[in-house]
Amino acid sequence: MADLSGKVAVITGAASGIGLAGVEVFVEAGAKVIAADLQDDKGKALEARFGAENVAYRTCNVTDNDALKALMQSAVDTFGGLDILWNNAGSGGTPTGVEDLDLAGYDMTMDLLLKSVFAGTHFAVPHMVARGGGSVVNTSSISAVCAGYAPITYSVAKKAVAHFSKLAAAELSKHQIRVNAILPGFIATSIFGASLGLPREQADQMAEMVAQNGGAMQPIGRIGKGTDIAQMAAFLASDEAGFVTGGEFLVDGGMTVGPRHSWNESEGGPLLDALGITPEQAEAMAAVMKLD
Ligand SMILES: NC(=O)c1ccc[n+]([C@@H]2O[C@H](COP(=O)([O-])OP(=O)(O)OC[C@H]3O[C@@H](n4cnc5c(N)ncnc54)[C@H](O)[C@@H]3O)[C@@H](O)[C@H]2O)c1
Repeated sequence: MADLSGKVAVITGAASGIGLAGVEVFVEAGAKVIAADLQDDKGKALEARFGAENVAYRTCNVTDNDALKALMQSAVDTFGGLDILWNNAGSGGTPTGVEDLDLAGYDMTMDLLLKSVFAGTHFAVPHMVARGGGSVVNTSSISAVCAGYAPITYSVAKKAVAHFSKLAAAELSKHQIRVNAILPGFIATSIFGASLGLPREQADQMAEMVAQNGGAMQPIGRIGKGTDIAQMAAFLASDEAGFVTGGEFLVDGGMTVGPRHSWNESEGGPLLDALGITPEQAEAMAAVMKLD
């Protein structure tokens, strides 16, 4: 377990899913946490659960620059400084594609998933400089790697978040501020239901359903949990990761290792099929390629 004792963290999107797991893991690791979200009931419950001396909830719409600036300042006012920023808030964004693009939805998605990361980091930097350094962790996605996991606007934004992390790492290294991106695979959270426009309560229920049914989608045989991502974030935020910056970290149960037949023999060999190679020829080839 990473050691975050003596550190102050801001986590956005902290009332649910990955961010909520972040609050749990960071507090256990010894951090004081400013938890930011729009779901006030769930956010306030965090203060009651962990104690106001460990967690302070702040309503913050991360697409609102003034609110983001005030959020970073509140870490200083409440806990005396800012060492860690985890830009994590998000949603599925516009489901439209290139041909049927909803331009207003595009702007909204980019504001939420990309501009908030840029602006949040911008407002955090002076406070981190005052502490002699810091760590910024950004939630990207496996949809930054290839098609097929999320809508195009979301995926492009998440790719940009990963690239932003690298470039910001370069710019901010002179201040001993490290910046890294995590690329989660499928994590059982409310984001799927929320992206379908379901009320939060139903979206939360859908997270349970996804958790039960999504295991077969990744080589590791189970779907991801918020804590899988939060543990990586805690490591990146900690001094143990002092030599780690500008990185992109897949945490996806192997989902992006390759096509399904590469990790599940029962799927057969579409590659051989496509090449017109029979199972007998494949067996003969395998025998020839044996070294012994
Ligand atoms: N769940 C996955 O499979 C998955 C995979 C890859 C990346 N991600 C990313 O992980 C991050 C967290 O998502 P999650 O899966 O935990 O979903 P979630 O819906 O459980 O949590 C997202 C939180 O962000 C908050 N939020 C949304 N818009 C906001 C805004 N404008 N201002 C402040 N808070 C806002 C929501 O209220 C919610 O509490 C997102 O950036 C998402 O894109 C999720």
